[in-house]
Amino acid sequence: MTDCEGAMSPVELYEKLTAQGDQVRALKTAKAQKADIDAAVQLLLKLKVDYKQMTGQDYKAGCPPSENTVAPDNGPAADGADDEDTVDPWNVSTTNAKGVDYDKLIVRFGSSKVDKELVDRIEKVAGQQPHRFLRRGMFFSHRDMHQVLDAYEKNKSFYLYTGRGPSSESMHVGHLIPFIFTKWLQDVFDIPLVIQLTDDEKYLWKDLTLEDCNRFAVENAKDIIACGFDVNKTFIFSDLDYMGASPEFYRNVVKIQKHVTFNQVKGIFGFTDSDCIGKISFPAIQAAPSFSNSFPHIFGSRKDIQCLIPCAIDQDPYFRMTRDVAPRIGYPKPALLHSTFFPALQGAQTKMSASDANSSIFLTDTPKQIKNKINKHAFSGGKDTVEEHRKYGGNPDVDVSFMYLTFFLEDDEQVEKIRQDYASGALLTGELKKILIETLQPMIAQHQERRKQVTDETVKQFMTPRPLNFKF
Ligand code: TRP
Repeated sequence: MTDCEGAMSPVELYEKLTAQGDQVRALKTAKAQKADIDAAVQLLLKLKVDYKQMTGQDYKAGCPPSENTVAPDNGPAADGADDEDTVDPWNVSTTNAKGVDYDKLIVRFGSSKVDKELVDRIEKVAGQQPHRFLRRGMFFSHRDMHQVLDAYEKNKSFYLYTGRGPSSESMHVGHLIPFIFTKWLQDVFDIPLVIQLTDDEKYLWKDLTLEDCNRFAVENAKDIIACGFDVNKTFIFSDLDYMGASPEFYRNVVKIQKHVTFNQVKGIFGFTDSDCIGKISFPAIQAAPSFSNSFPHIFGSRKDIQCLIPCAIDQDPYFRMTRDVAPRIGYPKPALLHSTFFPALQGAQTKMSASDANSSIFLTDTPKQIKNKINKHAFSGGKDTVEEHRKYGGNPDVDVSFMYLTFFLEDDEQVEKIRQDYASGALLTGELKKILIETLQPMIAQHQERRKQVTDETVKQFMTPRPLNFKF
């Protein structure tokens, strides 16, 4: 962007925004190159942030700023209260550059907030400093965590269950979040872990062959194993392979299927009459690993071992359904720990998506690709000129590079210093991006190194039904 931005009035900025909106629409209508559309959208988002900062109002097409720029409906309600955030297993989007309103989501989903008291309690029970994802609110919501900790304190074990839908060969850094955290939980609590790879789900939802989905499952398993899981404590399975091999697992699927009606899944997942019946019954398959007797090689015939599921909040519909059926089929309800989304490079309005290469940093990216993507695409909360930035400071709350650093830098003081320096203008956008690049490059290189060590034999070991190092 050009010159005299600082001198712009709200009306001028409003007009510029309107013109930019028209430009984006024109590019889309003309089916312009994706990169050009992305660039135009990025500028549009940036102008919206500037507008909000200047006027205290959200930009609305057709509603020029009022003379008195502090509008009566200013404040949180103006933050897209009427257009609610979309969060379901297939879509995540919001109009707010800071990302989804997670507090509202807790209320909407009826879960509980991971508050300071719970984090302190986990620290006490675990005897360790809580993981940075807990300290910084990435795992922000839960169901029944206190119950799990009560039981654990009485020497009753529990197990972990998480999963991944293998929709392509390559995973991105956002996919690592639940696995990094699950690994920490496994180390701290020393408990079994099962990881479901839903190759069946991806076959049902995407235009992929069964063979490809199954192959992606094995490839993704390598990235998951590279997170450092202990083979003696972890069972990874593909639905396509394990379902057929385990009568106990299938029996649980059928029990769940008998206790959920079409009406209920329609209400929870929005299925319609024209969805294939595979989709309609799939939720039972994602629910089944929540019950310990789905894994007799690990738990024998025990059906009473509670399960804790770390997952991104968009998976909650599956587990609301699971918790609803559990008592009706004589099983304990799974507990949950929900994470926020990992923002797309273009901004926290949506999550990182493997199907959009420019929105993602892949685990296979080279140092150069990482650098270019961040420099080119990472949405910046900085000002347009160095002078302005020094004078007014940047906005870390909408800055994607800063958000990523909060996920990956371990040192709380360092993160806080970067935040302050960026907000004061002492730290420039280029410098902030450089810190991120220098954090991600070695992190991803190390991941690639560890993944190389994962042989087909290792994958087979993890994916073979077998007893783990626990007695039940
Ligand atoms: N449906 C999830 C996805 O598409 C995969 C999944 C299966 C999962 N079981 C899970 C995720 C349990 C979290 C926890 O990615």
